Amino acid sequence: MIKNIVLTGLMGSGKTTVGRHISDKTDKEFLDTDDLIIQKAGKPISKIFEEDGEPHFRDIESEAILEASQKSGCVISTGGGAVLREENIDNLKKTGVVFYLEASAEELYNRTKGDSSRPLLNTEDPIGVLRRLLVARKPFYETADFKVNTGNKSVEEVSKQILELYQSQARPFA
Ligand code: S3P
Repeated sequence: MIKNIVLTGLMGSGKTTVGRHISDKTDKEFLDTDDLIIQKAGKPISKIFEEDGEPHFRDIESEAILEASQKSGCVISTGGGAVLREENIDNLKKTGVVFYLEASAEELYNRTKGDSSRPLLNTEDPIGVLRRLLVARKPFYETADFKVNTGNKSVEEVSKQILELYQSQARPFA
């Protein structure tokens, strides 16, 4: 089996855009765990948060991550909070090389403003939330195999760097 390429990082770090680009370049299947969650719940993420609460969202997220981790040779883009549960990190790492796409709160804010699909950023002070999440989640993101800084880099550059690191690492696993 071939290891997955797993992308983690905060909202706006470019996981989905970069993941799709890598998938196009390599013909690897692309999976987005947020999409799997929406399919499972049959409603958008904002509705899951609103009607069922964040803990329920995190439960569905863990199921989606487990399913995605059972694949091989895919590009998997995860939601920003995927790293919050140790079981998720363990599952992703078992079958994938994990990348943390790093960006500053200002860059994340610029890339997410105007998009209302993220309940955690639907507040008066989204940049403040991003700053706090960056600090609080840093130790979890840093469990990744590699950290890739995305500031001032094009999607092509970030994707190329990830593929080079992946190719240096990914050995078939039993
Ligand atoms: C979240 C990130 C979102 C989505 C949900 C919660 C988070 O995914 O899973 O809104 O906790 O950071 P993206 O990082 O793909 O926006």
